[in-house]
Amino acid sequence: MTDDDQQLRVSKIRNGTVIDHITGGQALNVLAILGIDGTSGDALSVAMNVPSDRLGKKDIVKVEGKELSQNEVDVLSLIAPAASINIVRDYEVVEKHRVERPSVVEGVLECPNHNCITTEDEPVQSRFAVVEDGVRCEYCDTIIRDNLPAHILAD
Ligand code: CTP
Ligand code: ZN
Repeated sequence: MTDDDQQLRVSKIRNGTVIDHITGGQALNVLAILGIDGTSGDALSVAMNVPSDRLGKKDIVKVEGKELSQNEVDVLSLIAPAASINIVRDYEVVEKHRVERPSVVEGVLECPNHNCITTEDEPVQSRFAVVEDGVRCEYCDTIIRDNLPAHILAD
């Protein structure tokens, strides 16, 4: 058997974004953050829990025809702190960034506290400090620890 028989590689993409070195098991949450469910018809590849020298196991997401906003990258960094974002044009990687854990995420997540000033009819943007075990609302101190993608504000 040759190497090719043993390794099933995910196809290269022509134009789009490859999110590599995602924490093993988090790829579906990354798709939720990006609002991608596959119905747009654009090519989408997801590999989960594949071997990685650096991480042991990693996930990879390849999306054809999509560039990420800074807000998306900020939330992504919270669930996949080692991720790298590769912008691909005409099959070449033209940009590569490591995500950085932000100290604050603004206007991205919705506070789960219904009495919080940011969830009422006031023009107050949500603002969360990034803390060790999650994110903390800077207005009411509510901490979100689990399932950050479920708290993303709709665009
Ligand atoms: N990739 C892709 N389609 C392309 C070019 C690259 O899907 N047309 C993918 C590669 O398979 C890899 C990622 O984008 O998963 C980064 O590509 P590259 O920088 O060439 O790979 P490495 O040098 O291995 O990246 P790193 O150093 O970040 O591990
Ligand atoms: Zn709040």
